[in-house]
Amino acid sequence: MQDRAPSATDLDAIERASLDELRALQLERLQWSVRHAYENVPHYRAAFDAAGAHPSEIRELADLARLPFTTKADLRDNYPFGMFAVPQAQVARVHASSGTTGRPTVVGYTADDVRTWAQLMARSIRAAGGRRGDKVHVAYGYGLFTGGLGAHYGAEALGCTVIPVSGGMTERQVTLIRDFEPDVIMVTPSYMLAIVDEMQRQGIEPRSCSLAVGIFGAEPWTDDMRLELEQSLDMHAVYIYGLSEVMGPGVAQECVETKDGLHIWEDHFFPEVIDPVTGAVLPDGSEGELVFTSLSKQAMPVIRYRTRDLTRLLPGTARPMRRMEKITGRSDDMIILRGVNLFPTQLEELILRTPALSPHFQCVLTRPGRLDELTVRVERRVDATDADGVAAGQALRTLVKNTIGVSVQVDVVEPGSVERSMGKMRRIVDERPG
Ligand code: DLL
Repeated sequence: MQDRAPSATDLDAIERASLDELRALQLERLQWSVRHAYENVPHYRAAFDAAGAHPSEIRELADLARLPFTTKADLRDNYPFGMFAVPQAQVARVHASSGTTGRPTVVGYTADDVRTWAQLMARSIRAAGGRRGDKVHVAYGYGLFTGGLGAHYGAEALGCTVIPVSGGMTERQVTLIRDFEPDVIMVTPSYMLAIVDEMQRQGIEPRSCSLAVGIFGAEPWTDDMRLELEQSLDMHAVYIYGLSEVMGPGVAQECVETKDGLHIWEDHFFPEVIDPVTGAVLPDGSEGELVFTSLSKQAMPVIRYRTRDLTRLLPGTARPMRRMEKITGRSDDMIILRGVNLFPTQLEELILRTPALSPHFQCVLTRPGRLDELTVRVERRVDATDADGVAAGQALRTLVKNTIGVSVQVDVVEPGSVERSMGKMRRIVDERPG
């Protein structure tokens, strides 16, 4: 693998600042952001007033805990533009979440917000190992989803050559990678697997392709998947995190030189981790729900937005900003099976430790009687025999029972029979009645 660490002189000044400098900047921006939200968004004014809180009470960063949380339901209730803090004519762009679970949530950006986002994405791509002059293949979806355009503007701002492919048409993705020889690919990890399969189908050895860095996010994935991707493509695979409500991709990014979790770009987003049940702020290092407050967003400030993503905050390493551990999963994706909590990422780890099984899998939930059952539907690898598959299925069952403590069914299926994602993979298929 190529050495892709950026040199210190390439970094933004704040990436080299002291913690004291960072905290002072955050406090100044926090005071602005809270006041901006209170003065310009009726929802925030009402919510702060109801909680007996006022922007003038924010004298230090810890005072943020006095303010009420914001949830996805608040965004939905104010659909489409009720959370905007600037007149519509100043909104340069909107994006929206897919809305598969209800009304879509709409987010807005001023021209300054779009510039900040591009700068933070440029910073993220550089931290991931991308450089000015690189060719960047963007296979995140373009459109209302923030992935494609977020990556696009960031790669342009870094001075890269952007190849705006978007998701889908997997055969063509492979042709373009072969012909254009990109250095960097930005795509969901599950779609990267589909692209690798297609390379193999076309008789192209994935390790021989030009890619040096993959910037993977928008869905949970594991260190075992990192190993799988790095080995099959001979490239660095690093995590990128973000969510539309807070900005889009580029809220946090893993550094290629350490690969030890994602640095949160704290000069623009203030993180907290809370107990999801009581709402209490937890000390750094404890696992809980990640909450973000935007520090510079003009069009749609968010104050204490509950992400439902579960992680821990850790001290900075390659950068002064705190890191978040890779996300175990969303609280919504937690499967509770006979009292045991379980995330698809835990199954991904165990599957990838079972040699005859491929990383293509889904978790199917059914309720044949009174209790829920989970069937892990997983493909055997192309080079494994039927008998290998059967043995691997039994091995996985035992592994799940011994490590997670719950019995599941394992259905090992033919290569190619688990649905492929072109963006975010649907890991949980819920076939329970009602
Ligand atoms: O997925 C933004 C994005 C695009 C991030 C491209 C990274 C790359 P949403 O569609 O609003 O935005 O979904 C946000 O996706 O709350 C997490 O649950 C999940 N997610 C995003 N990145 C990661 C990651 C984009 N690296 C939701 N690991 C978030 C785990 C992730 N989950």
